[in-house]
Amino acid sequence: MSEAVASIIKTIQWYPIGELSLPEAAADWLMESGSMTRRFERHCGEVCIEPRQERFIHYEQLGEAACHLPLNQRYWLREVVLSGDGIPWLLGQTIIPEETLSGPEQSLMHLGTVPLGRYLFNINEHRLTRDFIQAGLQGSLWARRSLLRLSGKPLLLTEVFLPASPLYRAIQS
Ligand code: PHB
Repeated sequence: MSEAVASIIKTIQWYPIGELSLPEAAADWLMESGSMTRRFERHCGEVCIEPRQERFIHYEQLGEAACHLPLNQRYWLREVVLSGDGIPWLLGQTIIPEETLSGPEQSLMHLGTVPLGRYLFNINEHRLTRDFIQAGLQGSLWARRSLLRLSGKPLLLTEVFLPASPLYRAIQS
């Protein structure tokens, strides 16, 4: 399964904003600007994060993500499965250039089961900025990709919403 997150993410079709007509309910989830974990918590008793990979990778392993990140010696890769009450709802992949991991951002390498959002949305809001959010489809599954900056230092966060995710309940209703 550790390879599964990466291989699913590799096959996402990304669309420039405006080229994809998003159902309103999907857009509401995909364009969420606050913590996704907190949003999921409104739909279940407990959100759990299961880390699948936390390790350094090299530029050559970035694939298409390389287009959005500066050239660094190494990149921290974090891949997780987020579940609501034990049911997998989301795959998350974070790629962090080594130069971002300076000062307080070093703790991004030690998140383990702590959701990334707990870190991102607990810091001074002026330190967190977003260059873009992009929507995508992996088959019939919605995905989004955000280039975030912490004090100007970039990281790329990709999220795929699995079939049981409450996002799809919102679309059906
Ligand atoms: C993570 O902890 O890496 C994480 C959590 C929630 C998300 C994405 C990533 O929506």
